[in-house]
Amino acid sequence: MPRPAEAALLSTSLIPTDNSTYEALPLVDSESLQALITHEALNASALELFAIANASVKEYGHPTRVIGSGGHYKTLGWIEKQLKNMSDYYTYEKQEFKALNGMVFNHSLSVNGVKVLDEKPFQLTPAAHVYWADLVVIDNLGCEDIDYAPLNASLSTNTVALIKRGECPFGNKSSLAGKWGASAALIYDPESDEIITGTLGTPTNTTVGTLGISKTLAESLIAQKNAGVPLKINMFIAAYVGFIKTKNIIATTIHGDQDNIVALGAHSDSVEAGPGINDDGSGTISLLNVAAQLTNFKINNAVRFAWWAAEEEGLLGSNFYAYNLTALENSKIRLFMDYDMMASPNFEYQVYNGSNELNPPGSEELKQLYIDYYESKGLPWVLIPFDGRSDYVGFIETGIPAGGIAAGAEGKNSQNGEVLDKCYHALCDDVTNLNWDAFLTNTQLIAHSVATYANSLEGFPLREPPKVASSADVPYKFNLHGNFYIM
Ligand SMILES: *[C@@H]1O[C@H](CO)[C@@H](O)[C@H](O)[C@H]1NC(C)=O
Ligand SMILES: *[C@@H]1O[C@H](CO)[C@@H](O)[C@H](O)[C@H]1NC(C)=O
Ligand SMILES: *[C@@H]1O[C@H](CO)[C@@H](O)[C@H](O)[C@H]1NC(C)=O
Ligand SMILES: *[C@@H]1O[C@H](CO)[C@@H](O)[C@H](O)[C@H]1NC(C)=O
Ligand SMILES: *[C@@H]1O[C@H](CO)[C@@H](O)[C@H](O)[C@H]1NC(C)=O
Ligand SMILES: *[C@@H]1O[C@H](CO)[C@@H](O)[C@H](O)[C@H]1NC(C)=O
Ligand SMILES: *[C@@H]1O[C@H](CO)[C@@H](O)[C@H](O)[C@H]1NC(C)=O
Ligand SMILES: *[C@@H]1O[C@H](CO)[C@@H](O)[C@H](O)[C@H]1NC(C)=O
Ligand SMILES: *[C@@H]1O[C@H](CO)[C@@H](O)[C@H](O)[C@H]1NC(C)=O
Repeated sequence: MPRPAEAALLSTSLIPTDNSTYEALPLVDSESLQALITHEALNASALELFAIANASVKEYGHPTRVIGSGGHYKTLGWIEKQLKNMSDYYTYEKQEFKALNGMVFNHSLSVNGVKVLDEKPFQLTPAAHVYWADLVVIDNLGCEDIDYAPLNASLSTNTVALIKRGECPFGNKSSLAGKWGASAALIYDPESDEIITGTLGTPTNTTVGTLGISKTLAESLIAQKNAGVPLKINMFIAAYVGFIKTKNIIATTIHGDQDNIVALGAHSDSVEAGPGINDDGSGTISLLNVAAQLTNFKINNAVRFAWWAAEEEGLLGSNFYAYNLTALENSKIRLFMDYDMMASPNFEYQVYNGSNELNPPGSEELKQLYIDYYESKGLPWVLIPFDGRSDYVGFIETGIPAGGIAAGAEGKNSQNGEVLDKCYHALCDDVTNLNWDAFLTNTQLIAHSVATYANSLEGFPLREPPKVASSADVPYKFNLHGNFYIM
């Protein structure tokens, strides 16, 4: 409901202070807040965000909002601009942190001078310049030092290691290959024809340039090698791995009980592959729209909206925030709601399967709020594992009850068996990838969750004391040695 025109007229003659304007607002209720969420506003924001992702085209060759890109910096500016416009209702802070960022500009591979056409670089691979190196086949799965004995046995000091996928992270294989003297590594999947790729994760001081190759090529190389054919490898990767600065944006209502904060978040970044309009442009937009409409109401409890950065690099922004809260700040947050991917094209209404037994008490009440909402609309819903794939992790690990909803990623829809988001982590995650029924329903549900708890936390479990996460719980640590600014 918009504010009545009469009140606006009145205010010009009375010249009220900000506070009396606020006091004149109606107390928030779910139906009224939901009624202000419109398809048109979501669409307008989605079009703006897609245009913003275009700012990366020059550098990346395609639209993206990955951390460190023009598209992501502009996304942050766009969120800030909207918060500045609501400065009589919210204060906001920017929390800066460093995150590992990688880029592969180009790469090539040839065997005995014959170009391989379908190799793929691993994310966060360092550069490689290898000329006429000897191919060495690594034993077993390349997860143990002993598997690299063939490098020792090789008479050559100019080598490329060929390794199977499996058992340990790709980063371990690349790092072990470098440790035992290889100049670069090739990884293949013995069980699939797909060319393997993935992330090498945080580099060590021995991580080497790494490419994925097909099973067909790998098996042919092994056969030739066994037949005594000398195999000479040229491998070139122009790449960069380094730290960039990025930031979380965290807005809190000026009004409402600041000792009982209702918190919610979405992530502002995308993967490098595409513009991320569903993942998580949708959650980013939902939060902005709900935050804007909440300004039409008075609230009892403070509400905190967060836009996390570097979710796609391993939940870095939300972990940075949650694990660094003081015990006092932590204890004021009554619950955290995660909204990541609200509008998947072949969506399901997914609810995180939190429980009060396994997760901080209140997680189950929150789960029930979402289920009750879908039930009240006669919409089918499914539970999905609450197992660490999004930004709630830092909260539940530090004792804050949490939950959330999603519309689906690379999994299959339980009704029709098709993939939930065919553009998951891909270039086609653009405005045309959004399902508008799911987007509108889920944003209205976000409005419902905010209105419900901003109005009252009565009956919602009281906070247990903050849990101090041991450093072993922190899922992602920086341990960069040496200089990785490599071209
Ligand atoms: C979004 O807005 C654009 C521009 O006004 C319009 O062309 C498009 O049809 C709208 N899309 C949806 C799904 O409403
Ligand atoms: C993005 O840029 C391309 C050209 O680089 C242009 O064709 C397209 O219209 C732009 N899209 C948006 C949403 O601005
Ligand atoms: C600022 O908010 C007002 C309404 O509150 C809206 O009309 C205007 O478009 C907003 N401006 C920006 C730049 O978002
Ligand atoms: C590889 O990328 C670098 C950096 O963009 C560029 O300078 C170089 O010319 C490229 N090389 C090839 C072979 O495309
Ligand atoms: C390589 O040789 C050195 C020296 O002989 C030995 O200490 C090391 O364990 C060997 N490494 C592997 C992987 O076999
Ligand atoms: C991967 O490497 C890390 C660091 O060296 C080690 O702690 C871990 O056990 C390795 N993982 C596996 C599965 O080998
Ligand atoms: C790499 O780092 C390890 C400790 O993490 C150290 O023992 C080793 O000497 C370093 N190797 C090189 C080549 O710098
Ligand atoms: C907490 O903050 C410190 C310094 O500001 C930072 O080094 C650390 O990585 C942060 N914790 C997490 C889990 O990100
Ligand atoms: C949800 O979690 C509970 C444990 O709290 C488990 O018993 C149940 O099987 C889970 N449901 C689904 C659908 O995963």
